[in-house]
Parts: sequence; structure tokens; C-alpha cells
Amino acid sequence: MSNYNIKHLEEYFKVYKKSVNDPEVFWEEIAEEHFSWYKKWNNVLSWDFKKPEIKWYEGAKLNITENCIDRHLRTNGEKTAILFEPNNPSEEAQHISYNDLSKKVNRFANVLKEQGIKKGDRVCIYLPMIPELAISLLACARIGAIHSVVFAGFSATALSTRINDSDCKIVITSDGSYRGAKTIDLKSIVDEALEECPNVQSVLVAKRINTEIEMKKGRDTWLQPLLDKASDVCEPEIMDAEDPLFILYTSGSTGKPKGMVHTTAGYMVYTAYTFKNMFQYKEEDVYWCTADIGWITGHSYIVYGPLANGATTVMFEGVPSYPDYGRFWKIVEKHKINQFYTAPTAIRALAKQRLDFVNKYDLSSLKVIGSVGEPINEEAWHWYNDNIGKKKSPIIDTWWQTETGGAMITPIPYVTPTIPTYATLPFIGVQPALMDKNGNELKGNQVEGNLCIKFPWPSIARTIWGNHKRYKETYFSAYKDNYFTGDGALRDATGYYRITGRVDDVIIVSGHNLGTAPIEDAINEHPAVAESAIVGFPHDIKGNALYAYVTLKETGETRNQDNLRKEINQIITEHIGPIAKLDKIQFTNGLPKTRSGKIMRRILRKIASNDTSNLGDTSTLLNPEVVQEIIENYIK
Ligand code: WTA
Repeated sequence: MSNYNIKHLEEYFKVYKKSVNDPEVFWEEIAEEHFSWYKKWNNVLSWDFKKPEIKWYEGAKLNITENCIDRHLRTNGEKTAILFEPNNPSEEAQHISYNDLSKKVNRFANVLKEQGIKKGDRVCIYLPMIPELAISLLACARIGAIHSVVFAGFSATALSTRINDSDCKIVITSDGSYRGAKTIDLKSIVDEALEECPNVQSVLVAKRINTEIEMKKGRDTWLQPLLDKASDVCEPEIMDAEDPLFILYTSGSTGKPKGMVHTTAGYMVYTAYTFKNMFQYKEEDVYWCTADIGWITGHSYIVYGPLANGATTVMFEGVPSYPDYGRFWKIVEKHKINQFYTAPTAIRALAKQRLDFVNKYDLSSLKVIGSVGEPINEEAWHWYNDNIGKKKSPIIDTWWQTETGGAMITPIPYVTPTIPTYATLPFIGVQPALMDKNGNELKGNQVEGNLCIKFPWPSIARTIWGNHKRYKETYFSAYKDNYFTGDGALRDATGYYRITGRVDDVIIVSGHNLGTAPIEDAINEHPAVAESAIVGFPHDIKGNALYAYVTLKETGETRNQDNLRKEINQIITEHIGPIAKLDKIQFTNGLPKTRSGKIMRRILRKIASNDTSNLGDTSTLLNPEVVQEIIENYIK
């Protein structure tokens, strides 16, 4: 019998040991007993981190929607699968049962087929948090199409780059979206993006805000009339275990986003198994993750993980501040939420408000509260623990990545004792390693280093779309025979892990990963800019904010610096999106560089954090004189 649900700490240690000593036996039992397969695998795992190549459940045949929908119909068809809470609190919530979901997904799948979409085709989804978003992912999976969701806060340029990178044939979008008191004209962003995407043949448009929009003849079609006409029966495509399920882009240290490819069986097994344990989900529970489905957290823990367990998963369209800062807690009370999963940046923003926004509401339904996306600082942890968890619901601080597919280091609530700011212990099957500067593994406890994973887990991303070489270089080249996460971590005396943050050129702002390179590329597009460097600095709510050092071309003319700042942020908004806007822009005569021409970001980071006490040795710089100038003109 497999240990699908871990209930005590001794059981965790026992099962963990088994998963490490005998991974194939362990993951075979989990897969065999808790999922539905058309055909079982020939081989549980084959892997080689040198190539790198990783395959789980090779030879197995399945469809993930059969596991997320159909098998629940037999016993639980009337249970709510998706509970949709609209942006506007006076609009009624929608309870979509598993029966309804099945019909909606099948209809949508048939519409995609009519549009000529086949197994293996890429479908770009650019939608707000409305039910059509979750349904469109599942509709793709139903017919074996590969979805590529682009977060609907990204700009037209960011969207077209992603559409072209994976050569999507079709885009699914809406007339617009609601975001608090604002409406956003999504369709015109798509129109602008598609000017650069010659291979997109059709656009399906969901109606949400009912504004007049332009529909391009021969390309754009309203979605609803097609759904109304479509059959609600669609046989699932039979997929191989290693067929791609989706592509999801994440930023990296070069300008181009990386299309992480997740495959079917391993992703399904791991997200389902982690979901069950990290939330201790029980049959009648109502579970809510506040992330957007545009990010991995939404893919794994709003859609696939919960639905594979037959759970009720809440989808919230709005923002935590609308109509006021009590909205999250109002929803917890209204839907009697049992598990609540959010990001530290939201916690910090809410902690700044008056406590009566929290205390007005009955939060007694909560059993587990979670955090994801960046390190949770001690103050935010305590606020969350005291005021939301009421010191009785454990906080699960879950560390993972787009690349890992599911949670990797996380407490199991009511099983693992928690400590503020610690993600605690590796999940079942996860084998972390901390590396020293020379690339050697640090054994024992009380050590700090770069965080790697030594052994494959079922939901590791298999490649970067169209660029396996970059996959190898980014994740498997820094440390021999290890997957490198890009994060630093420490292991304390008891073996608990604490994530200390990124050690590469990615900065996490409000829980969003932003590579410095794409932002610098955008800034450098400004005709007056010669060169730029971005670093992060601590920010109360966002965790980190962006500080830019910009040198201008010498043209002899003087420019108004405030206007320049506005123009630079405008370019960033156009190229990436408002999430990457700069908080501070300092104009300087030069950037500190090493003799080989590399910008010394370490120094710039210290200055941006207003900490110039120990800048280290600057004498080896090519241009040590700029450092003093930069310090003098630091923007408070
Ligand atoms: C960071 C989000 C500390 C980390 C699921 C990681 C965290 C990056 C935590 C991945 C946590 C995520 N504690 N840091 N609990 N969770 N991170 O791809 O730096 O959007 O590498 O995936 O977020 O972000 P991504």
C-alpha cells in the first residue's frame, strides 16, 4: 500500500527514506494506486543529468483530464470543482460542478478541434482569471494540444515574443478584464502583439466586460456561440507519459524568456501527491489559492493538483484591495475556505492595513495557510500566523519553482513542526544538496550554500522549448550531476532548510521573477541611453524593488531627467509589462566594471540598499572613480 497521505512525523521520515532508497518502487506504487491509466509504464524512471534527459513512467498511456475530471464523475459529479468568485463582490459566485466542468471542457475541446488544433499544436492562452481560463487549459489537455499560458499582465511585446517562440497557432483571449475598479482592454493588446505573429491563424474571444471591440475578419471569433454549438462529448486523446502537457515561460539571465516544458504523467502524479499532503486536503474541504493561473502556482495548485484529487478549488478574479483591504477575508468567510495559499507580497500589503479589515470576518474555517513565491520575512510570518492562522493553522512556507512543477521543500501541516522563515524539510522524494564555492557538496548540518537537487523528481521540467542546450547550460552545468536551482539556502542544526534568495540575475518583485537582462535590454532601447544596470533593493511590500543605474549617450544636449525617467518606465511597460517598472532611476557617468568588462553588480546592489559600509576591494575595477560618484548621487 502506498502512503498517499502522510499523517505523522515518523511516517514522513519512514516514507521519505523509502522514496530516497527505492524511488522507483515508491513512485510506482503512488502512480498505480491513485491514478487512472489506459496502459501502465514499461519503466518507472530513466535519467541522465549529463545529457540531460529525464523520463518518468515511460510507455504509459493516459489523459490528465480523465484523471482530473472523468473519474470523479462516477462518484462525485455534483461536487463543485471550480468555485469562481468574481471581481465585483455583488456579482454572484459560480459553482461549477465536476459534471458541468466535464461538459464545458469537452465543448471547448471540440471547438479547438474545429479550429484545426491537433495533438502537439501549441495554443496560446491570454485570459484573465475567469472560468474560461481553467477550462481552456483542460480543453487543450483533452485533445493533446500543448498550452502556453501568458499572464494577462504582460505587454504586447512580451506576448508576441512568447507566441513566436513556441509557434502557437491560435490565441485564446477575452474582450477585456476587470481588475479592482479598473477594466483592461486585453483584446487590443492581443491585436498589437499579433502584428508580429504571422503564424497565428485564429483568435477565440471570450466575452467578459462587454465592451465594443474590433474583431478582425477571418481571424477573430467570439467563443460563446461556438461553445453553444459544440458537442459536450469529446473522447480524450491518448497521450504518452512523456508527451508535453504545457509550456510556461520564466525569465532568465538573458533577454529571451525560457519556455519550460512540462510533460504529462510525472507532472500529474507529483502535483496531485504534493497537493494532497501540503494542504492535508479532505473530501469536503474548500481550497483557495490566490495566484493567477498565468503562473506555475496557478497551473499546479489551482488547476491540476486540486482537480486530480477531486477537490473544490476557488478561482478569484479580483485583487486583495478591492473594494477594500478586507476582500480576501470576506471571501474566506463567505466560502468557508479551509486551505488558503498566497504570496508574501500580498501578506505584507495586507499587514499594513488596519486590523479590523481582518477582524470583521469569521476565519474559523481555516485549517492550513500557505506562502509561496519568495522568502517570507519574519514580521510577515508572525502577522500571518497571529491574525490569519490565529496561531492554530500551521503556515506552510513552500519553496519551489516553475522548473520544479510542484513544491519541493515544504512543511506538511500538522506533521512537520514549523519555524518562521523556514521552508523546513524536503518533500517526499526530493533530495536537496547545498554546494560550496568550489562546487563540492556541503555535508552535515549548519551549512549554507547554493541549492541543488541531486536526483530527479517526477515533475521536473524536461527541457526549454526549442533550446535544449540552454536547458543544460542553465540548470545542469554549474554543478556536476546536479540540477541547480539558482537559489541559496542554509540547513540548520536540525536539518531544516531556509531559502536565502536568488544567487543569479533574477530579482523577485512582488513574487514575480524578473530577469535583469530583459529589463536592461528594454531600457537600452531608449535613444538617449548608452548603458544600464538593474539591481534589487529591499522594499516593505514588494520584497524587492528595482533600482536602475543608467548612463546616457554623450550628445551634448541636456535632457530633463524626470521626463527621461517616465520615458524609460514607459518603454519597460511596453516591452515587458507594468510589473517590471523601476522604482528608482539614477543617472550616472559610468558603471563600475571589472577589467574584463563585467558590471560589478555586487557594488551596485550595496549602494542601492544604502549600505556602503563594506564595498570590498574596488581597486581592481577598471574605473574605480565612478563608485564615489554613484554613492554621492544615491537616490533615497
Ligand atoms: C522563489 C514559484 C523562498 C525562489 C513557485 C525560486 C521562494 C523562485 C519560495 C521561483 C519560498 C519560491 N521561499 N523563496 N517559499 N517559493 N521562491 O518560478 O527564488 O515563479 O527560485 O515559482 O521563487 O519562482 P517561480
